[in-house]
Parts: sequence; C-alpha cells; structure tokens
Amino acid sequence: MIKKCLFPAAGYGTRFLPATKAMPKEMLPVVNKPLIQYGVEEALDAGLTEISIVTGRGKRALEDHFDISYELENQIKGTDKEKYLVGIRKLLDECSFSYTRQTEMKGLGHAILTGRPLIGDEPFAVVLADDLCVNLEGDGVLTQMVKLYKQYRCTIVAIQEVDPQETNKYGVIAGDLIGDDLYRVRNMVEKPKPEDAPSNLAIIGRYILTPDIFKLIEETEPGKGGEIQITDALMKQAQDGCVIAYKFKGTRFDCGGAEGYIEATNFCFEHFYKTGKAY
Ligand code: G1P
Repeated sequence: MIKKCLFPAAGYGTRFLPATKAMPKEMLPVVNKPLIQYGVEEALDAGLTEISIVTGRGKRALEDHFDISYELENQIKGTDKEKYLVGIRKLLDECSFSYTRQTEMKGLGHAILTGRPLIGDEPFAVVLADDLCVNLEGDGVLTQMVKLYKQYRCTIVAIQEVDPQETNKYGVIAGDLIGDDLYRVRNMVEKPKPEDAPSNLAIIGRYILTPDIFKLIEETEPGKGGEIQITDALMKQAQDGCVIAYKFKGTRFDCGGAEGYIEATNFCFEHFYKTGKAY
C-alpha cells in the first residue's frame, strides 16, 4: 500500500516573477484555491494520507495553509462563509503533514532525496504542484497510477504527448508498448533538443517511485543544467526494466507559466467554481 506523497516545493518559481518573489509559487491561486491544495486533494483521493513537503526559504505560507487559523475560524463560525473552508478542513482531518527544508537548490533529484527522512523505505508518490492534473471522466491521475503500481510493483511515471518542438522542456522517454497507454521504459533523457529527443512522450509531474530510487539519486552526477536530475536516476532504474511510463487519462496544465496558468484558471472556473464544486 502506498500512503505517502512527496511534494518538492522549494523551487524559486522564476517563470512567475515578480508574483513569486515573496510568495511560494505553490500558493498561487487557481480561482479560489492554491495550486498545492489541488495536488493534496488529488493525493487524498488516491488514498495517500501522509503528505510530505520539501520546502525552502520563504515558503512558510505552505505550512500555515495546512493548519487551523483559529482567528479566522472563530470569525466566520455560524456564517455562510464556513462553506469556503470545508475542503481544506477535510484535508487537515484526513491527512498528516510533515516538512523538511532543502537548503540548496540542486535539482529535482536532489529535492526528492532531501525528502528521504520523511519517506523512509517504502514506495511513494511525487507530485509537482505546478502541473495541475484533472480528469472529469473518472479517477484522478494519481489514483490511476496507484492502481497500476498495485499491478506492476515498480516505478511509474506519467507521460503525455507533446509538440515535438517542446521536448526541451521535459524529461522524454522511449519504450516498448506493453499495454493500453503503457510503456516499459528503455531510454529517458532530460530536456533534449527536438533533434535529440527519443520520442515526443514527455514526463509530467506525477511519479510513483520505489525506495531504491534514493540510492540511485545519491549515485547520480549533476546532469542537465548542472542539477541532479530525477530523470537520470530513473534511467538507471529503467535499465533493470523497472520503470513504466503511463499515458494518463485527463488533462494537465503547466501552471508554472502564464499560459497554462490562465488555461487552468478558466477550466477550474468553468468546471468547479461555477458548478459549486470548488470548496
Ligand atoms: C521537471 C523534470 C522533467 C519533467 C517536468 C514535468 O522539470 O525535471 O523531467 O518533465 O518536471 O513538469 P521542471 O519543469 O521542474 O524544469
């Protein structure tokens, strides 16, 4: 059983400056909820109740968000505004939250390794909160991936087809089709130029990792951009046939930049806010 979900959330959010100068990018609101809350809700829906967050300097708002605000609760008690807090209260009731700090930004692989004391020796999910994923037709993306993990018992990465000109924004995989929308990964490259990309199947910010990944990250040298890349550590795991890529059902919005953020905002306004499902 997977219970833990790790949120690397120490990054600077430079694509969203100046908004992210003094505020964590994970706290950017999509309509009425911060990005990270969508991610935690997706995790809880998948049965993951132990939320671990890797934070950094200037990220205290994350901890305050996942806590009770007594003054606020007292102020709105008995009013019709209480409904606004129903969703966040559910998360506080049903999940535990633990935090650790990444003191130096050395890449996503390093951020995940920083979370090791919170995870221990068990399989866990990773959510990059600025990839907002929704599936109006059924299970959320993490729920889909947890089901696959139960079947295959190995690392699962979520992928989607991207414009071949945009491979340099993603980890890109190549693999053998082993089922509907499922590939056994043979090769993966972090942010290849279009001419060097092994395919246009890009990894998006949802992973289920087996705990041997920590040792593999430790052994990983800095790669693209001088950072310790999770993609490089996963490539080592893939050499033993232990990484499956899954073309998930649903839509992913890249909320790390203005365009995807606006698309996500319009989508959530239409499908959640206007329909009363936003709290
Ligand atoms: C990270 C990963 C990359 C992945 C992407 C998904 O990149 O390094 O492999 O495709 O997340 O969003 P970042 O967007 O943090 O640069």
